[in-house]
Amino acid sequence: MFHMGWFLSYAVQAWRAPFSGRAETDWKDPGLYVDAARALERAGFDYMMFEDGSFIPDAFGGSAKWSLANAMTAPKHDPLALVATVGAATSRIGLIATITTTFYPPFLAARLLTTLDHLTEGRCGLNLVTSHNVRTAQNYGLDEQIEHDRRYAIADEWMDAVSALWDCWDDDALVMDHETGVFADHTKVRHADFAGEYFRTRGPLNVPPGPQRRPVVCQAGGSPAGREFGARHADTIIAQAYSVADMKAYRADIDARAAAAGRDPKDVKVLFLATFTFGDSEERAREKARAKEAAAAAAIEPKLASLSFASGIDFGAFPLDEPLPEIRTNAAQSVTALHLRGTEGMTLREIAARRMTGAVEFTGTPDGVAAQMGEAMAEAGGDGFLVQAPITRRIVAEVADGLAPALRRRGLVRDGYAHPTFRENLLAF
Ligand SMILES: Cc1cc2nc3c(=O)[nH]c(=O)nc-3n(C[C@H](O)[C@H](O)[C@H](O)COP(=O)(O)O)c2cc1C
Repeated sequence: MFHMGWFLSYAVQAWRAPFSGRAETDWKDPGLYVDAARALERAGFDYMMFEDGSFIPDAFGGSAKWSLANAMTAPKHDPLALVATVGAATSRIGLIATITTTFYPPFLAARLLTTLDHLTEGRCGLNLVTSHNVRTAQNYGLDEQIEHDRRYAIADEWMDAVSALWDCWDDDALVMDHETGVFADHTKVRHADFAGEYFRTRGPLNVPPGPQRRPVVCQAGGSPAGREFGARHADTIIAQAYSVADMKAYRADIDARAAAAGRDPKDVKVLFLATFTFGDSEERAREKARAKEAAAAAAIEPKLASLSFASGIDFGAFPLDEPLPEIRTNAAQSVTALHLRGTEGMTLREIAARRMTGAVEFTGTPDGVAAQMGEAMAEAGGDGFLVQAPITRRIVAEVADGLAPALRRRGLVRDGYAHPTFRENLLAF
């Protein structure tokens, strides 16, 4: 069996695409996400993972014109708030929201996440990112973004500080004894007294632990420093790959790093981004995939915007019909490197005609796709897939009512949830 998740934004979903409803206003409606979460819960999904960022992209073309005109990652709401709403309407699915270790003070983050763990009855998680864009740094008061690997060193200490805060309360600190009149026993609530190079926090947290005590920790950055960080702290890692060979190599790398950090690699669930094209027949699905591929190959501007987003470098400033100069970035290194992998000697136009999803692609009938996923997972030895698609009611139905039952018939995904909390279900197999 493997695990399933969905990677999405609390932002405009598939604006101007067919079957996207009233995308211009639906994205603000909590009902869109609640309906999706209920469908995915019916499908046995482990989690929904809401990505986030605190900036409006303006690297491409040197202004925010393109990102705002095309609703590319902007506007975007804070997904931490959405976790409470979706949590109230569901009972088993895990809900992960992205949080930046570079800019959220540990106390604020630890308290917020513990509150959400209570509100969701043990189903919240945090996706740790270090924030790659200089605009985020400027929005939080810095002139420049901190150097890439140092951001991960800070993240490491951030995790220690947050963990210390999560451990301030003993399990039996809440006495709630009417006879003695003691609500909480002060001898069982300790200071964190954390003093590191980047953070200091006294504690204790003024919230008792939630059902999970430590919400599920997710991590995404794929650079060596990012993987090292994920292998040390994450319960689940979301990874980009284009092939089964990529998946296998990523999994093996995380296994080695987790073991070196003294962890059982089985406790780190690696889920790979995946995209899907479904059809009522294999032929119809392949036809749709060919049309999608042709449209993507012609869409040069969105790729230049994506490259600019990941790297913070204006790819609109390079000549389209010449090879690219060497690209070095302090922003999202692994994403940029994956987009540019194997492009030596190619012109920018040729590069931008390639696929840039960072995801494994599946095409076929629901049952055909289920079979392909089972084979890929058996070969890669990973832990599951993360659907990468904007939330439209159509794709949610295709996955929840087409793919998931097919996976279930093959015994590849869970049939119901064995446990009440997110982490227990995630680590159940
Ligand atoms: C699948 C995936 C999802 C990501 N989601 C986010 C996100 O929500 N917010 C963000 O700021 N960065 C996100 N990132 C970027 C990384 O978490 C990280 O901040 C950045 O890539 C720099 O780290 P790296 O060089 O190790 O990749 C994501 C990366 C990947 C591969």
